Amino acid sequence: MTTPPYDLSRFVDDLRNITRETSDEAAIIGRVRPLARELALAKTWLRPEHYRGDEAQGFGVHLLHEEPDHTLAVFAAAWLPGRGAPPHNHGTWAVVAGVDGPETNVFWKRLDDGSRPGYAELARNGQKVFGPGDVVSFLPAQIHSVVNETGVVTVSLHVYGKHLNYTGRSQFDPEARKELPFLLSVAR
Ligand SMILES: [Fe+2]
Repeated sequence: MTTPPYDLSRFVDDLRNITRETSDEAAIIGRVRPLARELALAKTWLRPEHYRGDEAQGFGVHLLHEEPDHTLAVFAAAWLPGRGAPPHNHGTWAVVAGVDGPETNVFWKRLDDGSRPGYAELARNGQKVFGPGDVVSFLPAQIHSVVNETGVVTVSLHVYGKHLNYTGRSQFDPEARKELPFLLSVAR
């Protein structure tokens, strides 16, 4: 008998078990990473509508799961050609696995102490291109930006400790040295 391919409901069960067993974010990330990779590669959850982007936002965000209290949020993100997301944090742990196509992640470090409301100094701290089989993860305060440098829509699987519209997270404008709220437009 062969094992059925990994699917969303088993993944969510695994997320529930992991977060029941530990609240340590680094430990959660370490356990979620291989599972998110397996789910991303299995594509059992992937639907044609997950390739739809949001022109105003630059990317489409499709909610696959969240708990009633908005924890354990799973999204498919579709990145439009040449578009991306500005530097941002997540305000919760984050694991992103490539599904279809390469996405360029730029990593940023914060230079100021965060004591001035609305003000932030950022510096670039490397970049990496992620595709299918690759996983990138972040602690709540870590900052990255994303760009799709290809000519077609790319898709990735995103897993967060909490739905990003409920974490109070920020986006950043490094040139203007501004920190602003960052809410997602989410397709249902
Ligand atoms: Fe992100």
